[in-house]
Amino acid sequence: MCGIVAYIGPKDATAFLLEGLQRLEYRGYDSAGVAVTGKPGTLKVCKTKGRVADLAAAVPARFKGTTGIGHTRWATHGEPSDANAHPHLDNSERIAVVHNGIIENADALRDRLTAEGAVFRSETDTEVLAHLVAAHVGEGVELEDAVRAALGHVVGTYGIAVVDAAQPDRIVVARNGSPIVLGLGEKEMFVASDVAALVRYTRQVVHLEDGELATVRADGFTTFTEDARTVTRQPSTVDWEIASYDTAGYEHFLLKEIHEQPASVERTLSGRLDERFATAHLGGLNLDARELREIRRVKILGCGSAYYAGEMGAQLIEELARIPAHSEPASEFRYRNPVIEADTLYVAVSQSGETYDTLAAVQEIKRKGGRVLGVVNTVGSAIARECDGGIYLHAGPEISVASTKAFTSTVIAFALLALHFGRIHDLSPADGRRIVAGLKALPDQIREILAGEDKIAELAAEYAQSEGMMFIGRVRGFPVAREGAQKLKEISYVHAEAYPASELKHGPLALINPDLPTVALVPDDELLDKNLTTLGEIKARAGRVLAIAHRAPDAKLADHAILVPRSEPELDPLLLNIPLQLLAYHAAVALKRDVDKPRNLAKSVTVE
Ligand code: F6R
Repeated sequence: MCGIVAYIGPKDATAFLLEGLQRLEYRGYDSAGVAVTGKPGTLKVCKTKGRVADLAAAVPARFKGTTGIGHTRWATHGEPSDANAHPHLDNSERIAVVHNGIIENADALRDRLTAEGAVFRSETDTEVLAHLVAAHVGEGVELEDAVRAALGHVVGTYGIAVVDAAQPDRIVVARNGSPIVLGLGEKEMFVASDVAALVRYTRQVVHLEDGELATVRADGFTTFTEDARTVTRQPSTVDWEIASYDTAGYEHFLLKEIHEQPASVERTLSGRLDERFATAHLGGLNLDARELREIRRVKILGCGSAYYAGEMGAQLIEELARIPAHSEPASEFRYRNPVIEADTLYVAVSQSGETYDTLAAVQEIKRKGGRVLGVVNTVGSAIARECDGGIYLHAGPEISVASTKAFTSTVIAFALLALHFGRIHDLSPADGRRIVAGLKALPDQIREILAGEDKIAELAAEYAQSEGMMFIGRVRGFPVAREGAQKLKEISYVHAEAYPASELKHGPLALINPDLPTVALVPDDELLDKNLTTLGEIKARAGRVLAIAHRAPDAKLADHAILVPRSEPELDPLLLNIPLQLLAYHAAVALKRDVDKPRNLAKSVTVE
């Protein structure tokens, strides 16, 4: 999704802007651009459709300035093109604006501004902002006042950075629904929509709140509200390692992140297991045992893989705590006037902490008086800040568009929550100890699965040639099937469908043929016999079967099997999912896909 960077200080801004944009490439984009100023009255702009490398090649040698803004665009209004790329300028080429989000009343504003003489050069909603700000700057008007006045006419979501060639000593930024982070340096300041662009330069950051603006100068910043009230914001420290932003010798970030899972799972568990009382410590819940006992239902909300991780979480909570729990796409929930109940605990799941649909769902629940916990990876992100408490994943930054290590850590976080809940209710100490031991064993068991990568790669290359794939699982296995299908389709573009194994004969069995193989989750649990019967039904229709199992099924029932170590039955889905990540990855590699940046997708979806 779109990315913003900005710099003001003694150095040449262009180098930081280009490097910062490159660090945001993982979010997905189709064009990029930069604008710099320095000497009053000069504004240089360079923008192009394509990659940041294309932009870097297009930037002229004499393109210099000490104040600058940059952008990677993911098209929403108008096709990817040089003209639609940001920054956008006003008629006199004095104001330059970069923008993430969507201006909902752009058409009306465009008509009005055109009538007043503005000449539009793009199809974007963003360009109206440049003309609007220009309409408010004039002799003696501070840029921040012009931006504030302009935003007063705007309906929609935005994270923006604005420069004025007549006031090159400042950048004005604003946030409403789309993140803006200020990075504090030594006599220089950075701005980005994502800390990934900043961590090489500073660890001291300030996250703007919705409805806030900031004036950023080389020697500091001031934050204020839309009605010009100054607000004091204290910087926080980012603790993510710079090394997380490199591939560390792996061919792709995705592969690196899959292999990081033993370590990221250890971090998610670290300090949270209590062997004495066979429970979990979750300091950030902000709910004591008595309040937790009053909870009658758990409702989990997330989008895409976060929603599927929530389905696994719901299963864990029901099994361990015997509290009804259900996961729903946040993107649907927010539009259906949901009933919010006082004795329901709402849990928002998000790796980025910035997914707009999930944030909007949280805001809707809070507006109606509900209590929301966040299961979030990005510290200080919008969703984390909006929630009443929560669990940070500590999985480290996830760069590849497809979620792997954050997915696994999310399910671990739910296992901890379910254990904690369970031990407050009726989960016995013996069962609590069983789950604690199971969780502790997971990092080594994941290592064991990853050691079998070569065989999975061979199978992936073979299965990737099929016209599509079916993923099936029963009860605990069904969310695993859904996540496996999602991963395959999003990075390899092979069509994949997930079904409960029990539902196969109620329809999709009609699809089974040798060109549509089935990946079947077949744990050695109480439903094993039922699953084997389903495999028999597929084989009887000449279907091919790849089983992910604890024990290889009879050769008559499965053509291939990938074996995973046995965990506790409630935790098995976590391990069954790991080979599916490798399967999707190697299928995508075999098909020569852009693994880390799949077409049409973005890392964090900050628009509706
Ligand atoms: C799939 C994937 C997406 C995200 C979804 C939510 O691999 O990455 O489906 O899970 O866009 O993103 P977050 O977790 O950042 O809210």
